Amino acid sequence: MSAHLAIERLDHHYGSAQSLRGVSLAIEEGQCVALLGRNGAGKSTLLRCLAGLLQPSGGRILLRGQTIGAWPSYRRVRGGIGYVPQGREIFADLTVGENLLIGQKANDHKAGAGRETALLEEVCALFPILRTMWRRRGGDLSGGQQQQLAIGRALMGRPQLLVLDEPTEGIQPSIVKSIEAAIASLKGRMSILLVEQYYDFARSLADRYVVLSRGAVVAEGAGAAMDQDDISRFLRI
Ligand SMILES: Nc1ncnc2c1ncn2[C@@H]1O[C@H](COP(=O)(O)OP(=O)(O)OP(=O)(O)O)[C@@H](O)[C@H]1O
Ligand SMILES: [Mg+2]
Repeated sequence: MSAHLAIERLDHHYGSAQSLRGVSLAIEEGQCVALLGRNGAGKSTLLRCLAGLLQPSGGRILLRGQTIGAWPSYRRVRGGIGYVPQGREIFADLTVGENLLIGQKANDHKAGAGRETALLEEVCALFPILRTMWRRRGGDLSGGQQQQLAIGRALMGRPQLLVLDEPTEGIQPSIVKSIEAAIASLKGRMSILLVEQYYDFARSLADRYVVLSRGAVVAEGAGAAMDQDDISRFLRI
């Protein structure tokens, strides 16, 4: 059986500057893979290639064995890829509820009567703050609340592969804990690709880890075998 996601020898350039160098990475069904690396390592570039927002200059991306390189972003969402961008990118002038419904619309060809209500219930059970803040403008939320909204919005598209770019960045510790618990509760229900710079957060969630440095994979292994001393030189601890 093919992996849920297989990235094979991916290259990417910003103009003449090479940002990804032959990156290969696979995620099996239901697995959580942590993608680690310092600022500028190429983590977001890789995720943006996966979401269809950047065009790689070489290599290929396979979703359950199918090459998706030519798919536009919306088709990747429909193919079950839920992307939570770095910096959250929620719609500041829309309410929390509207932000969530946009996430659902992105994949609404599967929506059926009552299903979206059930899904909203599920997302609000995961992040109760979203129900409390339902009518507030996205821009009025704290960073941590916005992060929960961004994850909730991606979940409204019913992803089978959830891709998260630094969900703990700039967020207060108490909310980091609730985001960690939420991702832990999603584990096994969907495959997860988690970009992180914090060792402890990644260690607690990852079945496997991959470390990027200067656009190339420099270390990888089982989550349980992650060794802080070994990989700390690639991370912010
Ligand atoms: N739009 C862009 N144009 C040119 N170069 C870029 C652009 N975006 C990123 N880069 C460069 O590409 C490299 C990889 O950047 P990327 O944002 O993927 O790193 P990252 O691992 O996500 O870092 P961070 O942890 O800071 O988010 C860096 O050298 C960065 O300066
Ligand atoms: Mg980044």
